[in-house]
Amino acid sequence: MNNVEELKKELTEDLKKVKNIDDLENLKVKYIGKNGSISQLNQLIKDVPKEEKREFGMRVNDIKNYFNTEYEKMLDDFNQKEINERLEKDAIDVSLPGLEIPSGSVHPVERIVESLENLLMSMGYDVIEGPEVEKDLYNFELLNLPKGHPARDAQDTFYIRDDEYLLRSQTSPVQVRTMLANKGELPIRMICPGKTYRRDEDDATHSHQFTQMEGLLVDKGITLGDLKGTFEVIAKTLFGDSRKTRFRPSFYPFTEPSVEMDISCFNCNGKGCNICKNTGWITVGGAGMVNPIVLRNCGYDPDKWNGFAFGFGIDRLAMLKYGINDIRILYTNHDLRTLKQFDRREN
Ligand code: DAH
Repeated sequence: MNNVEELKKELTEDLKKVKNIDDLENLKVKYIGKNGSISQLNQLIKDVPKEEKREFGMRVNDIKNYFNTEYEKMLDDFNQKEINERLEKDAIDVSLPGLEIPSGSVHPVERIVESLENLLMSMGYDVIEGPEVEKDLYNFELLNLPKGHPARDAQDTFYIRDDEYLLRSQTSPVQVRTMLANKGELPIRMICPGKTYRRDEDDATHSHQFTQMEGLLVDKGITLGDLKGTFEVIAKTLFGDSRKTRFRPSFYPFTEPSVEMDISCFNCNGKGCNICKNTGWITVGGAGMVNPIVLRNCGYDPDKWNGFAFGFGIDRLAMLKYGINDIRILYTNHDLRTLKQFDRREN
């Protein structure tokens, strides 16, 4: 009986010292494990005098219950404490700002293309696409640039395998494709924006890949005045109502006569500055009346039909409009901030 009392005291002391679940589990082994102190008391019962057996048994049970109750209680406390600690550690501060997912923005080249498309579609033009891998036949030959023609030299071309296929050096072949597809009938009003390629060393004003937009109108009784009027609307839409336009004589094999299209400098209003190289004028594209040879090549009777064509360098327009001084900025699109700034400028 004394042993039981002693043990209860010892157990009470031990329980006070428990600091964590490990301590608690060690106590479990020490007291009610196979060789634990309480289990051993249980085995003593057979040596206890008969009349004390009942009392002894009750006390041993008592102390066992005491241990179990304390054990469960402490285990619960420890578990709860652990849960609370973890909750505290992993707590989410819902008032913190979330992670911003960066979003893209419309590229300057695309901005120009979109505004030209919108304008010209409103004037009845269709937007047509053509292949970037093109036939020499369409890129040059049918456009009145036969093999060996000196004007080919100006377009240092990427040929593919042999002389027959190339990366288109201009969007003009889409004129040919459109006329051939229309089989000599119907008025044609089409524009074709797209990528073009030349074997240029990349520098501030040259890129081996660049963007052009072709325009073609074939109908009856078209004049250079129609072309001038169309260019005027384009210039004003892109660069503001106070822009003046002018044509300068030029040469392209696919147009006759051919012109360079100039706008009065939007920076100095024609007075002369470094953007217009002190001329007051900026060249933004080439154009002209479709050469009868080209019409005939593409199945159109030049006695019945005529028309005009134009071609803009979209990169140049974007650089002028957004004040970009290096074409490589348009094609090395590594920093979203480069694009973002055009959002702000537009608004
Ligand atoms: N294809 C010409 C170039 O790349 C630009 C051009 C000039 C297109 C006159 C035309 C045009 O349609 O009529 O330099």
